Amino acid sequence: MSGVPILRSRAELRGAVRRWKAAGEVIGVVPTMGALHQGHLSLVRAAKKHCDRVVVTLFVNPKQFNNPEDLENYPRTEVEDAAKLVPFAVDALYVPDGEQMYPAGFATTVSVEGLTDVLCGAHRPGHFDGVATVVTKLFLQTGADKAFFGEKDFQQLQVVTRMARDLDIPTEVVGCPTIREEDGLAMSSRNLLLSDRARIPAPVLHEAMQDVADGLARGEAFDALKTAAEARILAAGFTEVEYFDLRACDDLSLLDAPDRPARLLAAAWLAGVRLIDNIGVPARG
Ligand code: PAF
Repeated sequence: MSGVPILRSRAELRGAVRRWKAAGEVIGVVPTMGALHQGHLSLVRAAKKHCDRVVVTLFVNPKQFNNPEDLENYPRTEVEDAAKLVPFAVDALYVPDGEQMYPAGFATTVSVEGLTDVLCGAHRPGHFDGVATVVTKLFLQTGADKAFFGEKDFQQLQVVTRMARDLDIPTEVVGCPTIREEDGLAMSSRNLLLSDRARIPAPVLHEAMQDVADGLARGEAFDALKTAAEARILAAGFTEVEYFDLRACDDLSLLDAPDRPARLLAAAWLAGVRLIDNIGVPARG
């Protein structure tokens, strides 16, 4: 098996995209910041199924980090990432550097109002502007017909879907299910930052969310379920529950009960690492 073609410049990417478009091929993109895990690989699998050409992008986007230490600590594993992609025979791993993405004088920000004011947006100022800006660039640079994102970052999925729709970018955003470890922890590159010891209580976040979803399905009140869930998460060793919300799937507005398609979304800190998760909640009849 030969290696994955690595493209580092916009010019190289543009050349490949031009050839693929001329041949009428469907291009899929899987945007990532690297440290690839099974969650990313499930997106690659979906892209391979639905597209003729697949580009995986790897760029640790400084504009979406509101904390310089977080940016510095973010795992960078390009060699391992490229090796993980070999069995999928993707057409390119696009690894631009900062200068390729944000050349001197770069002055444009893409900002999606409303959806970004809540949840992670409220706790990470500027984060979604950074995401929307880089994803807009990646959609335009790759000319992708389809882009694959995990539901694990549910708010991000809503934001990039709205951004593409509002800006008439003809890239279809495809959401793919969250992939979990055997114990239920949602796969995330950030899990690598947990020590073996800190990793032990990590699945409690998902367990507590699942219990709340089950309680809601039985008709129990969200407030009481939320209070018990937060107490359980803190008792397990998390230091803070940043949010634990029931929200409408379409506009992320807060709900007291799942009387329309809803999602439970939570963020909590464990040993200095911020974990997020979300699950669907069946709508009450
Ligand atoms: O989900 C991520 O890894 C990033 O937010 C993304 C979509 C690659 C943009 O930098």
